[in-house]
Amino acid sequence: MDAKVERTFIAIKPDGVQRGIVGDIIKRFEAKGFKLVGMKMMSASEEHLTKHYIDLKEKPFFKDLIKYMSSGPVVAMVWEGKGAVKTGRVMLGETNPANSLPGTIRGDFCIDVGKNIIHGSDSVESATKEISLWFKDDELVTYTSCAFSWLY
Ligand code: RTP
Ligand code: MG
Repeated sequence: MDAKVERTFIAIKPDGVQRGIVGDIIKRFEAKGFKLVGMKMMSASEEHLTKHYIDLKEKPFFKDLIKYMSSGPVVAMVWEGKGAVKTGRVMLGETNPANSLPGTIRGDFCIDVGKNIIHGSDSVESATKEISLWFKDDELVTYTSCAFSWLY
């Protein structure tokens, strides 16, 4: 895949939805220049979330994590652009909001590691897996952004 069409999976967690931060988060990815190619709101099942966070299955916080993530609807998105995975993680901030700098999403909007409002893929490989877990091929849209030639 061309670097410009790298894709990352971003999900606004139930606390981000309940606290009304969806628009603020989408705004940041749009303002940065990333292209939205998929988005849906859904209440994810524990089974689905267990697949999503399978690498953390042995962690002591796993059960609480699944409970938290299934406690309300999430907004699942795919954003595309050069370096979308790595830059997306920088935009999110650290896992623990206490270590996240102001200017990052977690640094600006939340306090506790157990309520850190947003998920972002941590590698291109996980992004590919996560996108195929959360979206069917025909739920991802192909189009040319009018901003493309002004961004690259
Ligand atoms: P995410 O996958 O949600 O983007 O978060 P991350 O990569 O920054 O962190 P990860 O290690 O993948 O952890 C996934 C989520 O589990 C919760 N967590 N709780 N209580 C704890 O010590 C703890 N550690 C992690 C957080 O919601 C974290 O985002
Ligand atoms: Mg993670």
